[in-house]
Amino acid sequence: MKIAKSVNRLGTEAVYNIFAKTKELTKQGKEIIDLSLGQSDFKSPKHAVDAAIQALKDGHHGYTLPTGIIECRESVSRKIKNLYKADINPERIVIMPGGKPTMHYAISFFGEPGAEIVYPDPGFPIYESMINFTGAKAVPYNMIKNKDFSINPDEIFSLINEKTRLLILNNPHNPTGSFTEKKVIDKLVDGVKKFSNLVILSDEVYDRLIFDKKEIPTFLNYPHLYDRLIVLNGWSKTYAMTGWRLGWGVWPEKLIEHVFKFCVNSHSCVNAPAQYGAIAALEGPEDHLNQMMKEFNERRKLLVDGLRSLKGIKCSMPGGSFFAFPDVKGTGLSGEKFSKKCLDEAGVAMIPGTAFGKFATDNVRLNFATSRENISKAIEKIDKIL
Ligand SMILES: Cc1ncc(COP(=O)(O)O)c(C=O)c1O
Repeated sequence: MKIAKSVNRLGTEAVYNIFAKTKELTKQGKEIIDLSLGQSDFKSPKHAVDAAIQALKDGHHGYTLPTGIIECRESVSRKIKNLYKADINPERIVIMPGGKPTMHYAISFFGEPGAEIVYPDPGFPIYESMINFTGAKAVPYNMIKNKDFSINPDEIFSLINEKTRLLILNNPHNPTGSFTEKKVIDKLVDGVKKFSNLVILSDEVYDRLIFDKKEIPTFLNYPHLYDRLIVLNGWSKTYAMTGWRLGWGVWPEKLIEHVFKFCVNSHSCVNAPAQYGAIAALEGPEDHLNQMMKEFNERRKLLVDGLRSLKGIKCSMPGGSFFAFPDVKGTGLSGEKFSKKCLDEAGVAMIPGTAFGKFATDNVRLNFATSRENISKAIEKIDKIL
């Protein structure tokens, strides 16, 4: 058997290996506190669950249009208008099986040998994986240079040249939990004016998971970029719906026919009942999200205070998402050794920073979307082994 070289260039997400290992250890009777996952422990909103069940009962279980049922696309458009006052034609919105396929498609559209794609490191691992898959040159910008892990426009500008086709941004940011303020995004938007062929992929999947009463400076508020802007978002994080596999992308009008064809050539359409649940999630009350964020805020403080109390660990306060990204250098261990020791000796699962690129050798990512009890226990256990 001879498989294509490109397949061997695909990367992965370390979280799945750790997930398998924690399952195995739990099966062996070990108590594991899992802070490695990228998902909320909250249940999906009841009104979304009910709507999906009702859709099945009503017989809405056939194929839909590859780009999504029009009611769902219209609902996304209305939500964007309500939240951000931006006018996005539903025809430019594509419903996807998760947030991930939007990045898969966007990188596939622009990546090929000879092209360059600029992306965050540390960053969501699929950016680099997919860039390598296409044969394009992966050009990372360093997200740990700034103390608060915010985006540094000047560094980004220095990496763009005539071969750069796509710039990937992610705010709030996984894995650092950083939030980049509007003035920085304004500077970035201003600076990319001179690179008129550059397309921007803005991954805004954590747009509603922002603390301290701040709001995302969404790229949807820069209409002059619309013909070269792709915005990735979805239901996974905001509505605690990761396993439903529901996301949306806002695309330049001229790319829609290509997205349509990619959908036809891969998944045909998103699970129909799930799309009805998705509409209900968008249209329904937001108590679920408000409650979740209130709780995450408490947990954020609990985790960060706990980490800061440990000898040799420094941790900045995450501004968004549900991740903390402490620097563990002071313990004398690298992020990789530290996370291995925590799992083997303390039964606490987390992810080393190097699972997100090459720069964050001294960091680990911990998820605070788990109970306060788990967080306190995890800190105690880590304290003991240190
Ligand atoms: C930054 C970022 N983008 C996209 C995704 C993908 O989301 P989904 O699970 O909806 O595919 C994730 C998931 O963890 C993420 O952290």
